Amino acid sequence: MTLYSEFLKNTDRPIHKMAHYFVAYERHFGRLVNRPCVFLEIGAGNGGSSQMWKRWLGPVARIVTIDINPICKQFEDEQVAVRIGDQSDPVFLQSLLDEFGLFDAVLDDGSHQMEHVTKSFNYLYPRIAHNGVYMVEDMHTAYWHEWGGGVRDGKSFIEYFKMLIDELNAYHIRNNELPPTNFTNSTYAMTAYDSILVFEKAAFQNRHTFMFGDPDKRVNY
Ligand SMILES: C[S@@+](CC[C@H](N)C(=O)[O-])C[C@H]1O[C@@H](n2cnc3c(N)ncnc32)[C@H](O)[C@@H]1O
Repeated sequence: MTLYSEFLKNTDRPIHKMAHYFVAYERHFGRLVNRPCVFLEIGAGNGGSSQMWKRWLGPVARIVTIDINPICKQFEDEQVAVRIGDQSDPVFLQSLLDEFGLFDAVLDDGSHQMEHVTKSFNYLYPRIAHNGVYMVEDMHTAYWHEWGGGVRDGKSFIEYFKMLIDELNAYHIRNNELPPTNFTNSTYAMTAYDSILVFEKAAFQNRHTFMFGDPDKRVNY
């Protein structure tokens, strides 16, 4: 069953997704299907998406959704936890890590305000699983002033993503112009789609050993 077919046949609680997002979901979250995993969605909405993730990821997945609106607590069930709080509040985010441990995947479908998206990412990304995936959707808002963005605006999360491409490649930058960071050492890939940004992590013992494919020297991937 593809996630998209699951979405199309939904007659239950409303799900708020664009059709072309399903390519990215299936590509980046597909390896979690029927695996024990912890999946965090920021933004519960009307409760339909957490049910969709539950049906697709299977019975051993733990789905966690967060929302600032207390009404979303009603969407909780035996496999779906709902916690109420602000995605930009590090104390709240830490309480999720304390309760649920390492997230294997995070999908940010919350406020889509640049400040919130950036704060959630900066707090959660370094703290998710070493091979975790972090996806931010609806990033067309990064071009809109009402969401705190704008074309080539320094506060736009799209601009932040572009800057992080340099950090991803920091080992190739000469003269210590941009020294490798924790992001460099923990990030395997960054992917941009229409309105979606994806970050994939991997732990490296030695970045170049990994690149030249010595499997004995890989760690935790
Ligand atoms: C687009 S809806 C989520 C839709 C849902 N994920 C789906 O696919 O059906 C966005 C949600 O983010 C919530 N939200 C807005 N600001 C937030 C914040 N600062 N922290 C957490 N959730 C927030 C809203 O209450 C709303 O329910």
